Amino acid sequence: MRTEQAGQGGRPLAGQVALVTGASSGIGAATARALAGAGATVVLVARRAERLAALCAELGPSAVAHPADVAVEEQARAAVAFAEGRCGKLDILVNNAGIIRPGTVETQDPREWRATFELNVLTAMVLAQAAIPGMRARNGGHIVNISSNAAKIPGGAGQASYAASKYALTALSSSLRKELGAAGIRVTLIEPGTTVTEVAESIPDPQRRAALDRHMHREHNLEAEDVAAAVLYAVTQPPRVNVNEIWLTPTRHP
Ligand SMILES: NC(=O)c1ccc[n+]([C@@H]2O[C@H](COP(=O)([O-])OP(=O)(O)OC[C@H]3O[C@@H](n4cnc5c(N)ncnc54)[C@H](OP(=O)(O)O)[C@@H]3O)[C@@H](O)[C@H]2O)c1
Repeated sequence: MRTEQAGQGGRPLAGQVALVTGASSGIGAATARALAGAGATVVLVARRAERLAALCAELGPSAVAHPADVAVEEQARAAVAFAEGRCGKLDILVNNAGIIRPGTVETQDPREWRATFELNVLTAMVLAQAAIPGMRARNGGHIVNISSNAAKIPGGAGQASYAASKYALTALSSSLRKELGAAGIRVTLIEPGTTVTEVAESIPDPQRRAALDRHMHREHNLEAEDVAAAVLYAVTQPPRVNVNEIWLTPTRHP
């Protein structure tokens, strides 16, 4: 894969500012490392301040921590304002923070559906809305939405709310691309299959948590760094190229 080499200092993202939600673990942390490694200044957003501080210490001046609960609209908007105020602009928004709440439609508490849609879909829309004016003013920017293989292969039993939220991201990304392309703003959807992360750990029900955790730690799953590499590929293409989507699955678990 070819990456753009146009940044200052030979690093493709030198001079660019990125904001990554859910940067305290898993795919978000790996993406923050990848973007910082390519020269970007990365604003790390999640609720666990101590995790963000540790990643900041690891990445040095390339990273700034901004602890926030982005499911709260005001905090999501404030995170974008923080990035623009502290770093002068926002070039790349990675909507990565997400949750999964397994359960059948027949039995699941609708509050779990709402929490899933609030973070996985509506927060991504709010963050995009907050970031667009600055991107428009600079005639460019990139919004990356982390979706899932659950939006490519429909219908895992017990996954309705998660899969529906990720299908919504497909539609959101497509609409955003049409709304923003003329302004030079790119939109990419990343659809990873099962990736070894902590995503099961926040599931309240112990049995569902244990079952998904076993699945997440199967041999031969993707690693968070594999997904981060896909994000890096998309954001380092020449500005004329919009990588619409990247669908990754573990070779042995297609
Ligand atoms: N792992 C997989 O197999 C897989 C596959 C396809 C897609 N994905 C997607 O990848 C994304 C990242 O998940 P992951 O697997 O890397 O899981 P993870 O390690 O649990 O990461 C989720 C991140 O989201 C953050 N987060 C959750 N709620 C938040 C909130 N209200 N405000 C701010 N941050 C919040 C968490 O940080 P705090 O708890 O510190 O807030 C954490 O950093 C999700 O969108 C997920 O759906 C994962």
